[in-house]
Amino acid sequence: MVFEVKDKVALITGGASGIGLRYAKELLKQGAKGVVLADIDPDFGATALAEIDNEFGKNKAIFVKTDVIDIQQFENAFKKTVETFKNVDILINNAGILNEKAWEKEILLNVNGVVNGVLLGLENYLQKYRSGSEAVIVNASSIAGVEAYGAIPIYCATKFAVNGMTLSWGHPFHYERTKVKVVAICPGVTEVRSISDVAIRNLGPAYEEIRRIEVPKCKSQKPEHVAEATIEVLRKAESGTVWIIEAGEAPYKFVFPDRFKLSEKIFLK
Ligand SMILES: NC(=O)c1ccc[n+]([C@@H]2O[C@H](COP(=O)([O-])OP(=O)(O)OC[C@H]3O[C@@H](n4cnc5c(N)ncnc54)[C@H](O)[C@@H]3O)[C@@H](O)[C@H]2O)c1
Repeated sequence: MVFEVKDKVALITGGASGIGLRYAKELLKQGAKGVVLADIDPDFGATALAEIDNEFGKNKAIFVKTDVIDIQQFENAFKKTVETFKNVDILINNAGILNEKAWEKEILLNVNGVVNGVLLGLENYLQKYRSGSEAVIVNASSIAGVEAYGAIPIYCATKFAVNGMTLSWGHPFHYERTKVKVVAICPGVTEVRSISDVAIRNLGPAYEEIRRIEVPKCKSQKPEHVAEATIEVLRKAESGTVWIIEAGEAPYKFVFPDRFKLSEKIFLK
């Protein structure tokens, strides 16, 4: 079943800048009724709203100051969404950081923030307030959620966690009982303001050394491409699936190996 974006309402965490703002604009371009930018930064929020008003006209977007780590603030964003637009059909759990030096915050935001969103969305608001027969949650993972990067082990841990919860909450059992599909996207390096100073946010010289080795295998892309590809995933992908979006190419499904179907079991020697 294809999920139609037209006339739907989306709540986007971290939606006031970077890739999150592109999601908001792409959804509006495709006919969404309204978007809610649930972001911690009011300055980004004001600029983003002005841009959206200018491009799409007034009353299409609201900003709700939200720290997604705090479930009460997250719930407030859902409440404001329903108060303003009557419905909520789409949740994009996009807010996330790459900052190995502030690793406790990195884990809280990238993992707890997404858990908060799924608990509120899947178990409550998207079941009660969707306008159609189905709702969607998109979780922002990363290529660092499907393969190892020695430069950023803690960020990798958080993004693997996002994929793990997507596979588990995306299980057909949960879809059948809630009619909320849960998918994840795994973008490669994407050109937004915040990735320019990644080097100063790693754990020290050894991590910088391996980053320089790992960086060349990552081809970058524009955030507009990630937004377009993500909306295609949101519309067409089945619950419990994970999609790579890299180097400006079409999204492709990442399939985790089935341990019962391994071609070979490797034992210790
Ligand atoms: N840019 C990349 O190369 C890339 C690649 C793969 C995955 N991702 C993931 O995509 C998502 C978006 O990345 P981005 O590069 O656009 O990030 P960004 O730093 O450019 O934007 C993040 C937004 O989240 C907001 N935010 C920060 N903390 C928050 C909080 N506690 N609660 C609510 N909002 C908060 C910020 O104010 C900002 O508007 C993240 O989850 C990131 O890990 C990014």
